[in-house]
Amino acid sequence: METRIFENTKDDIKQAAELIKSGETVVFPTETVYGLGANALDAVAVKKIFAAKGRPSDNPLIVHIADFESAGQFAAEIPETAKLLAEKFCPGPLTMILKKKSVIPDEVSAGLDTVGIRIPADKIAREFLKECGVPVAAPSANVSGRPSPTSFEHVLDDMSGRVSGIIHGENAVVGLESTVIDLTAETPTVLRPGGISVEELRDVLGDVLVSGELKDDGIPKAPGMKYKHYSPKGQTFILSGDVTDVAQFLEKRSKVNPTAVLIFDEFKAFMPKTVVVLSLGSKDVPETAANRLFDCLRECDKLGIKEIYAPEIPDNGLWRAVKNRLYKAASARVINVKNAKSVLFVCTGNTCRSPMAEGIFNNSRKNAIAVSAGLMAGGTRAEENAVKAALEFGADLKNHISRQITKELLENSDIILTMTEAHKKSLPQGLNVKTLAEFANESGDVADPYGCGIEVYRQTAKQINKLIEKLEI
Ligand code: TXA
Ligand code: MG
Repeated sequence: METRIFENTKDDIKQAAELIKSGETVVFPTETVYGLGANALDAVAVKKIFAAKGRPSDNPLIVHIADFESAGQFAAEIPETAKLLAEKFCPGPLTMILKKKSVIPDEVSAGLDTVGIRIPADKIAREFLKECGVPVAAPSANVSGRPSPTSFEHVLDDMSGRVSGIIHGENAVVGLESTVIDLTAETPTVLRPGGISVEELRDVLGDVLVSGELKDDGIPKAPGMKYKHYSPKGQTFILSGDVTDVAQFLEKRSKVNPTAVLIFDEFKAFMPKTVVVLSLGSKDVPETAANRLFDCLRECDKLGIKEIYAPEIPDNGLWRAVKNRLYKAASARVINVKNAKSVLFVCTGNTCRSPMAEGIFNNSRKNAIAVSAGLMAGGTRAEENAVKAALEFGADLKNHISRQITKELLENSDIILTMTEAHKKSLPQGLNVKTLAEFANESGDVADPYGCGIEVYRQTAKQINKLIEKLEI
């Protein structure tokens, strides 16, 4: 598909709006993140959004309008709470969930009887929405699962050739998505923390609940059940611990994998030279962290980073939104650096067993990080059936490339776990090497499923998963 680029001129914005009116998709800037828009009243146009993003159709879209006054055309009721919030925060980074009118098709609301209404503050967005003259349904303009786009460059990376038009705007000012508040609930409930803080909402409404997406320990209530979000290609972890311990840990990791750390400026000087250091601004300025987070995650992808580490984030004000996005990117995996272990899984070709073990292990929330290597390996992707089987255990091996075991890998691993006795015997003496089964207080090898059907791979993944569950790390 040809993607037309529109500049910030009256005429270009008008042409972009024409595309929307004719049922096409256009990406436009907002103060939060770029949005991928289509006419919200046109079910066929809305379907193009889901196709462009690769988004599951059971996730509803936000409807963007130019003025709160027209909300009544799309919402069946405008409660007093909505009026109060609109007065204070609209236009701005807030989405209000209201009972919907039937003009809003099911494709937008994903079958719910509610609709999210947002009035963006960005100047181009407002001009564009006015020109469209129709409400514009728009999710963030990223490929589903990737970090949301906060710059024109991010949008080009994800959406060139997938949409009819892109409006070239400035970098997003807020950098994180809008706060989503459900005003149809008995007590207004924040479903997604965002650009407007819970504290600000409470100042206006009094009682406001926050939907418990994460349990107190930061783990999602339904791990693996919810869609993957904000995920760069590298593995993301949150680090907890003293800055000097963090530095030591990162130095070691950087010898194993290309490693980056997202860090507050106050701690930058402590970081080892071997690690890519990306700034989240000052630890006292959540606005900067919010503004930079997605760009940092995307930068890691550009640099081919395999391990991304980020700091713990406070739980108040705008920090809450930063934490929400970061913890989702990290699947809420927090590593305590003081006693964290580096694990190396070893098999023959590093395309089946050891990558499955690595992936399953890294999902297991142990205080450790794993990599894998092969005795005779290098440069190929994981076997298709290994990818499929591992995915059933929540591990994503899509980006895995096999690698040959090296002295450096062995020396920088605290625990080396092989799939078979034979693998173990072929490694140098004097290292902490055990078979996976042995370390789990079991016996036997994990046999090679190479060349077998999916069922055999499933059994292998199951066996590995069981053994990993038993590891005391
Ligand atoms: O800042 C933003 O909100 C950006 C810009 C483009 O406006 N949009 C955005 O859209 O982040 P999206 O689709 O990436 O995220 C919308 C979120 C989803 O978590 C969705 O489930 C929720 O809002 N949502 C939308 N309509 C809803 C509804 N009727 N009920 C409950 N949740 C809803
Ligand atoms: Mg999104």
